[in-house]
Amino acid sequence: MMDKFVITGGRKLFGEAKICCAKNSILPIMAASIMCDGEVVLKDVPNFIDIKNMEKILRCLGVKTNTYNKNLHIIAQNLNSFFVPNNLTKKLRSSVFVLGPLLAKYKKARISYPGGCKIGLRPIDIHLCGLKQLGAIIYEENGYIMCDGVNMKPANINLRYPSVGATENLVMASVFLEGTTVITNSAKEPEIVDLQNFLNMLGANIKGAGTDKITICGVKKLGGGEFKPICDRIVCGTLLIACAMCGGKISLIGCKEDEMESLLKELRKSGCKIDAINDKITIESIGKLTAASFVETSPYPGFPTDLQSQFVAMQAISRGSSTIRENLFETRFGFVGELKKMGAKIDVQGQTCNVCGVDKLIGTEVYAGDLRGGAALVLAGLCAEGQTTVCDVFHIDRGYDFLEKTLSSLGAKIIRQRERK
Ligand code: UD1
Repeated sequence: MMDKFVITGGRKLFGEAKICCAKNSILPIMAASIMCDGEVVLKDVPNFIDIKNMEKILRCLGVKTNTYNKNLHIIAQNLNSFFVPNNLTKKLRSSVFVLGPLLAKYKKARISYPGGCKIGLRPIDIHLCGLKQLGAIIYEENGYIMCDGVNMKPANINLRYPSVGATENLVMASVFLEGTTVITNSAKEPEIVDLQNFLNMLGANIKGAGTDKITICGVKKLGGGEFKPICDRIVCGTLLIACAMCGGKISLIGCKEDEMESLLKELRKSGCKIDAINDKITIESIGKLTAASFVETSPYPGFPTDLQSQFVAMQAISRGSSTIRENLFETRFGFVGELKKMGAKIDVQGQTCNVCGVDKLIGTEVYAGDLRGGAALVLAGLCAEGQTTVCDVFHIDRGYDFLEKTLSSLGAKIIRQRERK
């Protein structure tokens, strides 16, 4: 299926939407469930392709998974394999998350190098270096990463860069190591706090997630239980930017203001009115925006790379010029070429792009090349003159739960056209 979105631009957005649980929280938590003796139930799990692919990876290890009423049940007592083949790892970078839990519980793992969005090199050296510091023996054989964790023991690990995935993998790998493991220069993303909360609820002893120092005291086992992952701040941010661009007033329920602060600050500066009470964020926009002068992506609490593309789309129709710098992924401006087909004036120089705002974008046929870049094209289509067709929507489905339904419920004119290839 190569679905398309057909969007008729020019509608303002109004109404209220509930934000779904965060993909980037659910994926490591699903992998962590490998370590649990009891049944894990993850509540309110959205229908993202990445989550379906992680389910396939767990099943290939022998984990039982089932979804009832949006609750994902995971039973991992009878693993019969410690090997994830290339056809699964190439679909999902988060496949690397199984390394930590498999080593923690079964002391062995073999996976092919992970794939994912085409947004940069995305090495996994920080994951592997940390696992080696914990005593795992790791080598490569015919494109597979072979890991032996028989001699693993606690360690003090200082990450050369605060990688989100490496932090999560190393936390998971350390859960059962007798003694104390300390990870410094750890990433501080809210999803890491969520992983800590999940693991502690099941019996782990982890402190410090959300700061740059995480301490893990080894425990003997993890039980089972029910857990509701945090809401998806990237989905929330995408919808906030949509409303900023289209004009209107929407309220989004689920994300906390402080988790969204770097974006909210920019939205306020652009002229939008933001109100946040508890977990409800309301944005009001007249659709006439002032360009940001300079924004660069950085690890949390900085401006998220996963909102960079959507923010560039917003700059494309803002008054004035802006410079956006992408510091995390080398090739994350791939969508810019498509945006230019709609009339955007953007000049990419390496990892920086200079955007000169235009009065309006014009609808045309564009291709999503990656998840967030695809979302940016949808946002551009929502406020463009005429009709925009966004092809290769499967990229967008990796991280949005029927984005067209949420946007339609807020008043946008967007339909999914199913197409077989
Ligand atoms: C996670 C998110 C992704 C987000 C990214 C940055 C999940 C499932 N995905 O990805 O949506 O865009 O954080 O917020 O949570 N790096 C290395 N070596 C490594 C690991 C990372 O050099 O071993 C580099 C990467 O190339 C990148 C930077 O570190 O430049 C950040 O990557 P990282 O934080 O690891 O991102 P992910 O965990 O892959």
